Amino acid sequence: GLRKKEVNVLCLGLDNSGKTTIINQLKPSSTQTHEIVPTIGFNIERFKSSSLSFTVFDMSGQSRYRNLWEHYYKESHAIIFVIDSGDKLRMVVAKEELDTLLNHEDIRNRKMPVLFFANKMDLRDAMSSVRVSQLLSLENIKEKPWHICASDAIKGEGLQEGLDWLHEYMK
Ligand code: GTP
Ligand code: MG
Repeated sequence: GLRKKEVNVLCLGLDNSGKTTIINQLKPSSTQTHEIVPTIGFNIERFKSSSLSFTVFDMSGQSRYRNLWEHYYKESHAIIFVIDSGDKLRMVVAKEELDTLLNHEDIRNRKMPVLFFANKMDLRDAMSSVRVSQLLSLENIKEKPWHICASDAIKGEGLQEGLDWLHEYMK
């Protein structure tokens, strides 16, 4: 049959934002895990979605491991950046990491799509995806297609919308 197009996706964001929970939800239910622990270093996950075959680098967001991120920039075709919408205190840290990422020489001049998940929208005091995009100044991203979705990774809400958007840019 037809080979699916291979796409490398880098999943980034601060620790505790929900990266591993999101990736776990995107995998076929038979391969999902029920216990999600903080990622050490990174994990590689593979799954297929319609015409694409995804390899996801699920990076640790802990500060001591964030220096690993840049080693995977060159070989990635898309970025998923996850934000904890309930973590107002660390939004400025998330913005710093995002700005550093977008200014990196291996990322800066590329047209790769960036999908943002404003995750944990179920929390009572969660910020809206519009508010999150304002705080991260996403309107300043001119050179790349980007999209932000509110998500609840525990219920799996909002994730397919994001993946559908990504598909459009990976054809
Ligand atoms: P690191 O691997 O340390 O970088 O963290 P991570 O971004 O992979 O976060 P992880 O998926 O481990 O989730 C952290 C915690 O947030 C876990 O207790 C999850 O159950 C919880 N969590 C993830 N997504 C959501 C969500 O949408 N809503 C709520 N309420 N909790 C969530
Ligand atoms: Mg993780």
